[in-house]
Amino acid sequence: MSPVTPTPPAPAADGPLLSVRGVDVGYRTGRRTRLTAVHDASFDLYPGQSMALVGESGCGKTTLGLGLLRLLPRTGTVSAGQILFRRKSGDQVDVRTLAKEDLRRFRWNEAAMVFQGAMNAFNPVLRMEEHFLDTFRAHERRTRRPRAEILEESAELLEMVRLDPARVLPSHPHELSGGMRQRALIALALALRPQLLILDEPTTALDVLTQRSVVEQLTELRERLRFSMVFITHDLGLAAELADRVGTMYAGRLIETGTTRDLFHRARHPYTSALIGSVPPVAGDRHVPEPLPGGPPGLNALPPGCSFEPRCPRATEECTATRPELRVLHPRDEGLSHAAACLHADGAELPTRGGHP
Ligand SMILES: Nc1ncnc2c1ncn2[C@@H]1O[C@H](COP(=O)(O)OP(=O)(O)OP(=O)(O)O)[C@@H](O)[C@H]1O
Ligand SMILES: [Mg+2]
Repeated sequence: MSPVTPTPPAPAADGPLLSVRGVDVGYRTGRRTRLTAVHDASFDLYPGQSMALVGESGCGKTTLGLGLLRLLPRTGTVSAGQILFRRKSGDQVDVRTLAKEDLRRFRWNEAAMVFQGAMNAFNPVLRMEEHFLDTFRAHERRTRRPRAEILEESAELLEMVRLDPARVLPSHPHELSGGMRQRALIALALALRPQLLILDEPTTALDVLTQRSVVEQLTELRERLRFSMVFITHDLGLAAELADRVGTMYAGRLIETGTTRDLFHRARHPYTSALIGSVPPVAGDRHVPEPLPGGPPGLNALPPGCSFEPRCPRATEECTATRPELRVLHPRDEGLSHAAACLHADGAELPTRGGHP
């Protein structure tokens, strides 16, 4: 009799890794006042996908990123919605309901964040090796491992981001260049092999050449380790290069989502179109596009209709009264549908002048 083949475990790979549903995030701003900085965010992120969040300063990108991992400052809370995450075990949890200890394990082990302004993320009095030792020891489930073993693994991580461990590990953070610190931080975030990495403006403070090498390493690491990524950036060129898909935010809302191609070639929301139009072409004429006039509305004084209406070249009377929902225009699997929150999204395609991709 042939041996019984054990039933293979159910494939864990289908379905989204992260499913964000109607998430609101706000800050307490006074004894009785609150500011809702993110309204009704919804999107799915599948394993291995990379999504860029773009939009002007103050539109809620960092707030959403922090909210997803419950890393908000004390005054911040996720006040509505679900953040469904498929854990390494295959179980789906709502990150909002994780108890303190579980949340601590969830972070680093399953999802990690590289913060905006990460240059200051290291404790200046600790050598880099201590940062690695602390991270592993604080978050590993395993029993205490010998120092040498952890340092060996840390060295491998640093090599992965093309840093020389012999130079980096014994150094204090200030002895490293900005680019080296940023790469070390990415290595540290990946230490426990999270399935999701959220990076908030990871290259903004770096010079152009260092930016390039960080971007190349991120691309390489993602191919190798297959983590999913949410990439927050002002830099649309970077978004075009690193992301499979893009979410545009405006005044706290996701107003357009789709593949990178959709947004760069077939933008349906006038704001995305204007944002892309404000990227100078890569080559060719030296025409400098006009910046988008005006600024986003204060989050405490949002117009009753579409938040973009006061700046919108397409706005009609209806736009002043009706808030447009994020509507699917072109359905696709794996969270890749093209959706826009514009009453006129079905109209003619909007011009984009950017040179990407
Ligand atoms: N700790 C806080 N308390 C109160 N309001 C805050 C706090 N942090 C952010 N905000 C407000 O929330 C809104 C969204 O800010 P957020 O930092 O998420 O924007 P952002 O898109 O990341 O901007 P940037 O591109 O400048 O980083 C802004 O109006 C900001 O002033
Ligand atoms: Mg930010």
